[in-house]
Amino acid sequence: MPRFPADFAWGVATSAYQIEGAVDEDGRGESVWDTFCRKPGATRDGHTGDVAADHYHRWQEDAGLMAELGLTAYRFSIAWPRVQPDGKGPANAAGLDFYDRLTDALLASGITPVPTLYHWDLPQPLQDDGGGWLARDTAQRFADYAEIAAERLADRIPLWITLNEPFVVMAFGYGLGVHAPGEALLLGALPTAHHQLLGHGLAAAALRSAGARQVAITNNHSPAWPATDDPADVAAAQAYDILHNRLFADPVLLGSYPDLSAFGAGPGGPDCVADGDLAVISAPLDAYGVNYYAPTRLSALPGEPLPFRMEPIEGYPVTAFGWPVIPAGLTEVLTTMKDRYGGRLPPVCITENGCSADDEVSPDGTVDDQPRIRYLDGHIRAVHDAMTAGVDVRGYFIWTLMDNFEWSEGYHQRFGLVHVDFATQRRTPKASFAWYRDLIAAQRRTA
Ligand code: FCB
Repeated sequence: MPRFPADFAWGVATSAYQIEGAVDEDGRGESVWDTFCRKPGATRDGHTGDVAADHYHRWQEDAGLMAELGLTAYRFSIAWPRVQPDGKGPANAAGLDFYDRLTDALLASGITPVPTLYHWDLPQPLQDDGGGWLARDTAQRFADYAEIAAERLADRIPLWITLNEPFVVMAFGYGLGVHAPGEALLLGALPTAHHQLLGHGLAAAALRSAGARQVAITNNHSPAWPATDDPADVAAAQAYDILHNRLFADPVLLGSYPDLSAFGAGPGGPDCVADGDLAVISAPLDAYGVNYYAPTRLSALPGEPLPFRMEPIEGYPVTAFGWPVIPAGLTEVLTTMKDRYGGRLPPVCITENGCSADDEVSPDGTVDDQPRIRYLDGHIRAVHDAMTAGVDVRGYFIWTLMDNFEWSEGYHQRFGLVHVDFATQRRTPKASFAWYRDLIAAQRRTA
């Protein structure tokens, strides 16, 4: 493994709804994911995050595992419904206490806490009242919540992330209906892009005025590859690139929307953009979070509201999810970002990267997840390749610490470095856990 800079952050990432459980405790309100999971057929086998990995009760054990890994940073998310059960109004102190204790425990182990404010668990009342991210008001509500969180924690937290993957919220949550809140509006989901981005901008300002030192956003990025050289497929891939990558990066980094004419929007972006919004959205950031899993291959689908179709990518190993394993795609994402945004791109952190596998505890009590080790090894090298090509990357966070609730897939996709037996909540570190621990130790050893 090549050598990374001494101050490079080595982390893992998790999110609240996927690990915490304890959905009725200490005054937590309901989130759109609680509601969505109860709809028949919404998640595989009707799984819910009611218990998840029970991290709300077992956080000390989990923080111990992180200390054992020798992590230098931990990206977790704060559950908005724990902090503001109705999505507005005064803080629920007991909800904040949980993150306060976690923050102190991390710091005591030398681990930098990196919270994300929104990893998809919108308070249900905001969905009921105004349509969630379809409503402009939700952006302001999000900023109010950000301020509450920062007032409590900013004295100890160096870096905040506002949103996680607004593309997935728009596309899966409001466009296709396969994630909460389960709206299948297709292109009618476009306003949720702008309202999330506005929420990001307003929250970034609120965080800073409440004392936050550094602020970032996390976007999911995927190289868009045309299925063939046919100009129609090339145009389809460009359209997908705009929707998946540029729609959420251009406004933040350039202060303008990309050409959305293929999706029925005018030159100024979605119809709901108001004067001054783009200035709020594009206020400079201290870091930019990239989540990467795999490239996407597209062919043309003329005459449909979404003018592309996803095609399989053959010739590579696949994860349990069926996603192709292509580390070079991560280098491509990073070098493309640098080419596209130049000096407007702040230092980058890989805030999620990892793979699912059908991991089982063998009779001798071990979990030998060699495919995950190969995946991570390849992708960490791919990050180094991008750095050699001049991209300023400051950290890498594996998705994820431990097996958890994988959204509409329920407990069927295991992404963790630690195996979780969901019947007993027993944690078993996998082979990849020891591999990552040793990698971090080797990188941190002074030459
Ligand atoms: C990302 C999500 C994360 C996890 C991984 C597998 O899109 O941010 O919560 O589900 O995918």
